[in-house]
Amino acid sequence: MQQQADKKMKIGSKSTGVADRNTPLLRNYWYVAAFSDEITREPMRRTILEEDIVFYRTQDGTAVAVQNRCPHRSFPLHTGTIKGDRIVCGYHGIEFNPDGSCGLVPALNAAPRSIRLDAYPLVEDGPFLWIWMGDPANPDYSRMIYQDWCTSPGWTHVKGYMYMKANYLGLHENLMDLSHFAFLHAKWNIARPEHAAAPSKIEEDGNMIRQREIHEDADLPPAFVEAAALKAPMNREAQHLVQIPGMHVGTQITTDASEPPKRDVQHVIHIMTPETQTSTHYLWAIAYDEAVDTEELREGMRTVGEGAFMEDKVALEDIEEIVARDHRPNFREKIIKTDEGGIRVLRMFARMAAEEQEEAAVAAE
Ligand code: FES
Ligand SMILES: [Fe+2]
Repeated sequence: MQQQADKKMKIGSKSTGVADRNTPLLRNYWYVAAFSDEITREPMRRTILEEDIVFYRTQDGTAVAVQNRCPHRSFPLHTGTIKGDRIVCGYHGIEFNPDGSCGLVPALNAAPRSIRLDAYPLVEDGPFLWIWMGDPANPDYSRMIYQDWCTSPGWTHVKGYMYMKANYLGLHENLMDLSHFAFLHAKWNIARPEHAAAPSKIEEDGNMIRQREIHEDADLPPAFVEAAALKAPMNREAQHLVQIPGMHVGTQITTDASEPPKRDVQHVIHIMTPETQTSTHYLWAIAYDEAVDTEELREGMRTVGEGAFMEDKVALEDIEEIVARDHRPNFREKIIKTDEGGIRVLRMFARMAAEEQEEAAVAAE
């Protein structure tokens, strides 16, 4: 009887074909390492995909990323100094060039070729500094996902950073899942429970998943409605696009009841750069039409962005904590109909990870 009811409600268990915190982190992709304005002439440390990296800028402003571990005695280089274009280790003063090569070992008065740092290919795109975590000799620029609305005239954005003590995949699931809006984010008025049942369509093409839903008579944060002078009832089309492990782009197209209808477009860029399997750099940006920009709207976006995204972060950290704490045997998470988008993303990442493992095995032969 129970089984029958479950079938009707489309309940299942997570299968082994989905990526989880045991799936190797994906290396042959671009990740957003930082916001560009975080990188200055002062060394900045950030661990990405379990590699400790130090960032700084050369005298002409070019961003540099090299391993944050001196090859001499493993001293962390971010505690050292910048001298011209070089980073200098604070322990015995070895100097390194932006390409990772040694500039000088003071004790030898020489620059041996065998002493060097890993250096990482970077791309700066508007507010984002991207890093290639695969083979540094072969960065695949076709895998860059440029965010034109953060760099094009007529657009503006607000942005923020949160450190999340949870695996990055939970954030992907969370962002594809609208059914949590009315509950976890109840206080922001961004959806009623029935919005989770809005018709949704999922397209999948290679390494791309796009989910779309139309919400009739949608709710929007009151601060946003007031500032953008939108008139109820409003219809909202929501799109969710995932093409790489480190990014989810949400697009909201709102059409209101004015005559003629006012149309507003926003892109919400969620960046999840894994630090480790259980911690993530969560960067976000909301890009919108510069013409509607006011200090009030900007403040409203920031408040809702930081407030709602903080609720996701706390929820995902609570989940990570209970997964580490509770070891009951045979526990398998259940999936329901509204989880489909998230599950498809996790399947895509599992496939990408398997491909990467195969490629690595072939390269090692
Ligand atoms: S540990 Fe860096 S110079 Fe010795
Ligand atoms: Fe959320």
